Amino acid sequence: MTKINVLVLGSGGREHALSWKIAQSDKLGKLYCLPGNPGTAEVAENIAGSATDFAKVKEVVLEKGINMVVVGPEEPLVKGICDYFAADKELKDVMFIGPDKLGATLEGSKDFAKEFMVKNGVPTARYESFGKGDEERAREFMKGLTPPYVLKADGLAAGKGVLIIDDLDEAMAELEQMFSGKFGDAGNTVVIEQFLKGIEASCFVLTDSKDYLLLPEAKDYKRIGEGDKGLNTGGMGAVSPVPFYTEEFKSKVEERIVKPTIKGLAEIGAKYCGFIFIGLMNCGGDPYVIEYNVRMGDPETEAVMTRIDSDFLGHLVAAAKGELASEKMVYSPKTALTCVQVSGGYPEGYAKGYEICGLDDVKEAIVFHAGTSVKDGKVVTSGGRVLAITALGETIPATREKLFTEVAKVTYTDKYFRSDIGLDVM
Ligand code: AMP
Ligand code: GLY
Repeated sequence: MTKINVLVLGSGGREHALSWKIAQSDKLGKLYCLPGNPGTAEVAENIAGSATDFAKVKEVVLEKGINMVVVGPEEPLVKGICDYFAADKELKDVMFIGPDKLGATLEGSKDFAKEFMVKNGVPTARYESFGKGDEERAREFMKGLTPPYVLKADGLAAGKGVLIIDDLDEAMAELEQMFSGKFGDAGNTVVIEQFLKGIEASCFVLTDSKDYLLLPEAKDYKRIGEGDKGLNTGGMGAVSPVPFYTEEFKSKVEERIVKPTIKGLAEIGAKYCGFIFIGLMNCGGDPYVIEYNVRMGDPETEAVMTRIDSDFLGHLVAAAKGELASEKMVYSPKTALTCVQVSGGYPEGYAKGYEICGLDDVKEAIVFHAGTSVKDGKVVTSGGRVLAITALGETIPATREKLFTEVAKVTYTDKYFRSDIGLDVM
């Protein structure tokens, strides 16, 4: 069997989890991560650089004899890295996991995503989009909705571009600010939509443009505070499986959302070999799409990867070859829980550079690194989200007990985490 050299792009907990899973495959030759972090360094060779520096990525691919590139974050995809590979005669035969620029627009533009959903009959909240000069119509549309009001900047806004506001006057004032450049160019178009009441879950799909595999579903914990209070974050934890994500709900998601999405992508001519992460709202047992992402979720990946028992790299190879029709993904029936340890102050300002102690004492959970670096031979904090500690167990209560015992072993100045991960779905 020829071994495959893989390059994972990105540097967070998601990329550590992807690398950790890929490293378990007997198909793997050598694994590299660009730029990676001290966690990926345990399973891969890190290479300095930026995932959006396409020329650097090319240089690494050629120099290291890379056979497959797996893209973690959305930014290089939205900027067209897949197209860059397809157009380069030295790179075009490298297996590539991530959609082209057109496919990535599903995440890069909320207006595009909403229009795509409506055109393909994918259930989503009623909406309208407004550009500059359309302020009056936008205000009228908003007056016709019932609160809370949901305002979304069209473009990528580092996860901050969605506002949910109870008061109409306040919503009007925010709308004004969005049109005046609060989110820069990302807010040149604003999507206003109906508020969906329900409980959220995420569906993860690996597609080769024709067929697909479903990864385990997950639910994340977006707010900074316990009980889902306070500011939005990149994600404070995750649980998989999700108890309310029943076989019936799953089949509705497949029939009403996954299949029309893949068909719709093929119809617009997108080259889509990669992940689709579909943010869902379960409204009384029926799934609605809140958003598409063209990558895996973070920290959902950290939970999901620990539940995949089949050869994940084998699935990626099948996707790259357009052979997913005959693949089967095997999941563990166990519960995975991820708890994200953050720097005090996050998601606002926080300090960096604190030494992290106790990492080697964690024996019953997996420590995925997110915002860490090495300074004078010590692992120190270097980001808002620092570690994503993940435990696997038989039930949610048993897994919570195991997880939080392990979480307590890791210490650094001003460490914060949510201790209610999984509690709401027990
Ligand atoms: P997004 O960045 O699109 O994922 O939105 C961020 C969060 O806002 C989502 O995870 C939901 O919690 C919430 N959200 C977005 N759109 C809606 C909606 N139409 N109804 C209710 N909540 C929403
Ligand atoms: N955890 C949400 C995301 O990755 O977008």
